[in-house]
Amino acid sequence: MTALPEWLTIGEVTARSGVPHTSLRFYEDRSLIVSYRSPGNQRRYRRSVLRRLAFIRAAQRVGLSLEQVSDALATLPADHAPTRRDWTRLSRSWRHELDARIDALIRLRDDLDGCIGCGCLSLQRCALYNPADKQAVNGPGAPKLRPTTEGGT
Ligand code: FES
Repeated sequence: MTALPEWLTIGEVTARSGVPHTSLRFYEDRSLIVSYRSPGNQRRYRRSVLRRLAFIRAAQRVGLSLEQVSDALATLPADHAPTRRDWTRLSRSWRHELDARIDALIRLRDDLDGCIGCGCLSLQRCALYNPADKQAVNGPGAPKLRPTTEGGT
């Protein structure tokens, strides 16, 4: 496998990133990625767009909104390939958000077979963890599934 050239066609970007043309245009319309025009007026992308696309897709997979992604990508330089330092700065700004999501996922994975304090009182364990729905004082929803940053118990 040889390395891709510095400037890529839309077909090369789609083939390497797995992102369809339509999504590339969608991201471009929202300034998440940038393309340039060749002397023949054809759309060209910097090879560094592949990292941006991978970042956008990964962020969407964990439920982050395009607005959050857009705000994060806006911290990166537009006129050259972002450096490791640029990405480090970006990832630091997201650490809290991602930690909260990781925490929520771990709670969902680990607590779903027990009483989650939702008020249903449908499991035997509810009598222990949530007798007479005492968890209702902690607010709406299931306190066991709330990320700890929201004061989950
Ligand atoms: S699981 Fe719903 S109150 Fe226990």
